[in-house]
Amino acid sequence: MSNGQILFPEQRSSLVSLQRFLCRRAFDNTHFIIIIDENTYSHCLPELIANVSRLEDAEFFEVPVGEEGKELAIAGQLWQTLLEGHVDREAVVLNLGGGSVCDLGGFVASQYKRGLRFINIPTTLTAMVDAAIGGKNAVNLNGVKNVVGNIRLPEAVCIHTPFLSSLPVAQVESGLFEALKTLLLCDEALYHRLVNGLRSGVREASDEMIRACAQFKQAVVKQDLYDGGVRRMLNLGHTVGHAVEAFSMRPGRKTLMHGQAVGVGMCCELYLSHRKLGFPKEEYDLFCSTASRMFCFPHYSLPEVEELVDLMHQDKKCQQQQVRCTLMKDIGIPVIDVEISDNELRDALLKL
Ligand SMILES: NC(=O)c1ccc[n+]([C@@H]2O[C@H](COP(=O)([O-])OP(=O)(O)OC[C@H]3O[C@@H](n4cnc5c(N)ncnc54)[C@H](O)[C@@H]3O)[C@@H](O)[C@H]2O)c1
Ligand SMILES: [Zn+2]
Repeated sequence: MSNGQILFPEQRSSLVSLQRFLCRRAFDNTHFIIIIDENTYSHCLPELIANVSRLEDAEFFEVPVGEEGKELAIAGQLWQTLLEGHVDREAVVLNLGGGSVCDLGGFVASQYKRGLRFINIPTTLTAMVDAAIGGKNAVNLNGVKNVVGNIRLPEAVCIHTPFLSSLPVAQVESGLFEALKTLLLCDEALYHRLVNGLRSGVREASDEMIRACAQFKQAVVKQDLYDGGVRRMLNLGHTVGHAVEAFSMRPGRKTLMHGQAVGVGMCCELYLSHRKLGFPKEEYDLFCSTASRMFCFPHYSLPEVEELVDLMHQDKKCQQQQVRCTLMKDIGIPVIDVEISDNELRDALLKL
């Protein structure tokens, strides 16, 4: 199995590292296929091809942007195209895009003829710190997210942070919440540097922060690829976050981006961490005041809180009717699978 190594700039650009990687014997006579969407086609593909000559003859497949592309039907169309093009098992798929392209492309590659090799080239902050790493590939079906998928690691993940220069601010902000989550788990100094930057209006993560997040996720995944234990620490903010995200998509409500929902989820889960595990109050306050300055935080009425609690019970990770969360004892000390009562959830949601 591949180890999904991360190509990150050392002295040279990570695209130079990618060129060297693709010149290995393992890729002799390889047919390369690049999956892109409309935005990565115009903003990222020219730079990729200009710097990675090994990809000059690559074939491109464009898929619809975002969740519209991450559909089983689109995966079916891609498999059909691969079959009609007589693509064999030696071909390599490169996913040039955000989490949607990586999730879709990884799924398509890993299922075709029992598995083509694939490489992720993330172009959003969310994908660089999270989605492109860890081998979870999936598509949506009938509006249910990530319901058809597998776990298979990419050959490599090439993180080229200059791609972020064309990313819309809202997308960057969404990724910043995932970066905050990971830094809270792994690096107190970088976490505080990012929080301080955000408080003074800087809406970006440095290369050092992105690298720290990517390497930490990679290390956690190496210990627990199939999500049976330590990997669940990465769910911090997501138990409440997924419910808040699903609720925000209902008619008449303001839709939250995934990262924003995770930010709301983290406020609730850090509050619970404080109440149940003694997570420092000043850190909880600092996170919530920073997050709530970044966008208009939702407030929930009592009936809405009940609906959110119901949504958490429907979550695929909810076992035996008991909602469980990853909570924090302190920065860098997560505790996975903490049981949370419905009253505790109500309390945390009403505190928002
Ligand atoms: N597999 C995992 O472990 C994992 C983890 C987190 C999220 N995800 C998935 O990732 C998806 C979200 O990913 P995302 O937030 O990266 O969004 P996305 O892939 O939908 O991209 C967001 C938008 O940015 C555009 N874009 C991408 N790169 C750009 C660039 N460099 N310049 C300009 N525009 C650019 C895209 O075309 C799209 O319009 C969700 O489907 C989520 O389920 C997966
Ligand atoms: Zn997430």
